Amino acid sequence: MERLFTLAKIGTVELKNRIVFAPTSLGERGTEFYREIAEGGTGLIILPDVAVQPSMLGAPSLDSERFFPYFRQILEICRENGCEAAPQLFFQEYDLAYVGSLFRQRMSLGGDEVRRKMAENVNGYCDSLTTEQAEEIISRFAVAAGNAQSAGFRIVQIHGDRLLGSFSSALFNHRTDRYGELTAFPAAVVRAVKEAAPDLAIDYKLTVRTEEPALGRGGVLISEVPCFVKALEEAGADSFHVAIANHSNLRDTIPSAGHPLLQGEGCFRHLGEAVLSCSSRPVCLVGKIQHRQFAEELLEQGFAFAGLSRQLIADPRWPEKVREGKENEIRYCTYCNQRCVGGIMKNQPVSCILRESEDRKEK
Ligand SMILES: Cc1cc2nc3c(=O)[nH]c(=O)nc-3n(C[C@H](O)[C@H](O)[C@H](O)COP(=O)(O)O)c2cc1C
Repeated sequence: MERLFTLAKIGTVELKNRIVFAPTSLGERGTEFYREIAEGGTGLIILPDVAVQPSMLGAPSLDSERFFPYFRQILEICRENGCEAAPQLFFQEYDLAYVGSLFRQRMSLGGDEVRRKMAENVNGYCDSLTTEQAEEIISRFAVAAGNAQSAGFRIVQIHGDRLLGSFSSALFNHRTDRYGELTAFPAAVVRAVKEAAPDLAIDYKLTVRTEEPALGRGGVLISEVPCFVKALEEAGADSFHVAIANHSNLRDTIPSAGHPLLQGEGCFRHLGEAVLSCSSRPVCLVGKIQHRQFAEELLEQGFAFAGLSRQLIADPRWPEKVREGKENEIRYCTYCNQRCVGGIMKNQPVSCILRESEDRKEK
């Protein structure tokens, strides 16, 4: 049975199909890009990295009502097309003044160096927080969730990497207070969001790491997945979005075609299966998903959603073309990472070489 275009639910929120635009920083506010994705038939768009505190460089955040007009515009664009949008709530776990100064020097330092220094700055952040500071951050998530609901969202994604990934990982979390228990901080965030905005559905980005081979540093070890899933479900998570853990380098979290270990379609499938085997909630898998047949196979296996990032950057009309049986017209991503990951590294808007070359031909 074909499942990709059947109705689905996260909590009580109905989605028109099982195609999710995975959180993707676009290097700009991206309203037009979201329009293309929504018009192309995607069921749910995750808006990347929406900070729960005032964010760096003026990126849209949900610490206040300041960006409501922007979020409402995106929601309107999405809902006109029967699509939902969910902000990915996260906390920027570094010294904002220091990172701001790195960004100002980015022309001389280069994107790679800025990212390396940012990663260095994250080390130790989780351990450095007092219990009161940790709890203040939890209440920021609650406030942001309340704001998300007031702005009109029905779903939020809690970013289980970044600061929550540090609290989840024995490599970063050496605390001796109640948040030294690896599941405690992420579960407290989910609980606080549920209490603050009970009508919001909560999708949790559960990022999983492995030791052999060593992939990912923040996030949950594959052997710890059952314990995290139980704690997060009890706290109120309505669904899971599974990807590889971060805090290492983008080459693993967004693997190119030539990645030595993360090869082929569904390259994080083993991580998703670990969640699927112990969760009673819908699970979305990401990682080089790009063919209808493969997405259907995942749904047949029990995944509720197929999450696509780079394939939808390459061709936002992927869902429509699949639904209409026009797969031969799809612009298939080659996972070259040149203008998408390359764009982020150079602090330029995200683009795609396939689209650029077609645009050139049309001119
Ligand atoms: C340009 C770009 C930006 C991304 N930004 C984010 C982000 O802000 N937050 C996040 O959780 N994941 C981010 N990701 C990771 C994607 O959500 C996804 O997990 C990853 O790209 C694998 O999926 P894919 O193979 O379909 O691209 C980004 C990916 C790309 C390509």
